[in-house]
Amino acid sequence: MTDDYLWFEGLPFHVLGFSSKVIKEVCTKFVIKDEDTVLVSFPKSGSHWLIEILCLIHSKGNTMWIQSVPIWERVPWLESDEGYELLKEREGPQFLASHLPFHLFPKSLFTSKAKVIYIMRNPKDVLVSGYYHQTLTNFSKKPESLKQYFKWFLQGHVPYGSWFEHIRGWMSMRDRENVLLLSYEKLQKDPRSTIEKICQFLGKKLNPEELDSVLNNSSFQVMKQNKMSNLEILPETLISKEFKITRKGICGDWKNHFTVAQAEAFDKVYQEKMVGFPKELFPWE
Ligand code: A3P
Repeated sequence: MTDDYLWFEGLPFHVLGFSSKVIKEVCTKFVIKDEDTVLVSFPKSGSHWLIEILCLIHSKGNTMWIQSVPIWERVPWLESDEGYELLKEREGPQFLASHLPFHLFPKSLFTSKAKVIYIMRNPKDVLVSGYYHQTLTNFSKKPESLKQYFKWFLQGHVPYGSWFEHIRGWMSMRDRENVLLLSYEKLQKDPRSTIEKICQFLGKKLNPEELDSVLNNSSFQVMKQNKMSNLEILPETLISKEFKITRKGICGDWKNHFTVAQAEAFDKVYQEKMVGFPKELFPWE
């Protein structure tokens, strides 16, 4: 266990599984290919759900891959030690995932035709989800309370820094042809049409049975039972027994956690930091 973060260029990263050397190499040297598909998110925005959907679309609804290979090997995390090792060795089109903020992302992305999918989520739910994640895992320092994590979140002292900076940076890519912007909230509200949208973006044609399989096998209930996807097979040095990436899987859980004063304080910071962004871009109140 650790009581700090790994700091890289002023940004907090997890300590376990990450190193400055690899992060630096990724940021400065990694080459994204035109054929790659890159999934980007701020942690706790529904990244693993999206990864599961992509894997199922790729295998046309066949569940063999998602049931036999751990999710972090199917779609490696670019900036993690293990993910980088895997990706360095792989050839041909790749799926890769990243939480890196826009300004640190390998510059090769911006001149490539690689497809980028960015998933965002109501930051209040991101905060609550992050609190449980950090409490039940040993990747970096643990908060003593939600009150303390709340403070860290607004200061940007949570893994990958400020949610506000992350979203502002990546939003600058939103009008590009090779970028698809998704939200956890829309995926919850209408998973079928969101999955169809992803298929269209990736140029994948699925028949109705295949689409049904993608939908069913990426559902919260099914994912929660899939050991290859819910992270429960991570070693005990990294997670506590109760940890699964599939925690609650709902929108608006912040309402069960925030005090009125916290909600007001959050809204105030949100309004200041998100000034200039059209409200319609974000599907939360
Ligand atoms: P909660 O902690 O609010 O339940 P990430 O993958 O970016 O770390 O995000 C994790 C969040 O996505 C968790 O939110 C988790 O429950 C939710 N999630 C994971 N798989 C899901 C699924 N199939 N359907 C709905 N939510 C899912």
